[in-house]
Amino acid sequence: MEFTEVIKNRSSVRSFRLDPVPDEVLSRILEAARAAPSANNFQPWKFILVREEEKKRQIAELCMGQSFVGEAPVVIVACGLPTPSRVGGYTSSTLVDVAIAVEHLVLAAENEGLGTCWIGAFDNRRLKRLLRIPEEVQVVAVIPVGYPLKEKRWKTPRKKMEEIISFEQYEE
Ligand SMILES: Cc1cc2nc3c(=O)[nH]c(=O)nc-3n(C[C@H](O)[C@H](O)[C@H](O)COP(=O)(O)O)c2cc1C
Repeated sequence: MEFTEVIKNRSSVRSFRLDPVPDEVLSRILEAARAAPSANNFQPWKFILVREEEKKRQIAELCMGQSFVGEAPVVIVACGLPTPSRVGGYTSSTLVDVAIAVEHLVLAAENEGLGTCWIGAFDNRRLKRLLRIPEEVQVVAVIPVGYPLKEKRWKTPRKKMEEIISFEQYEE
């Protein structure tokens, strides 16, 4: 698919077909995540692929009961590792780094005809316990991945361009 088409077509998918995602397709989208840039090239990420039904159900429960998460054939849990890199001198680069890698994955999934949805509403502490994630590692995002059930997708609105850019200095 054309890159601009991928960007334009992507939207969050919250209902999935039962069809499994072939391993070669999964590995292509994970390659896209692996290729992402990161501060100092530390690549402070780890992706947990969950396909077991019961485990997916438990994850969905820990995502504030968003049951569609567990209905996707694969749930990818993106984790952030601690890193000494700072952004702007005020915060760790981990969230930024992992977010970039996840968005690479999301766009690569779109390119493969797959649907995804970023999930930020989850119980980090309990998810970590369920998936045996070490103390110092945090969950950054949960991404259900699967073929979309519906052809047509709802397009969410965006702010106008003039609302989000300014020239030479910050403007309200
Ligand atoms: C950090 C983050 C957290 C999100 N958390 C959730 C979530 O918990 N549940 C959900 O259904 N969608 C979630 N979303 C999806 C957003 O609602 C969605 O991206 C936004 O409304 C724009 O719609 P679109 O993705 O279809 O373009 C999240 C998105 C981001 C980037």
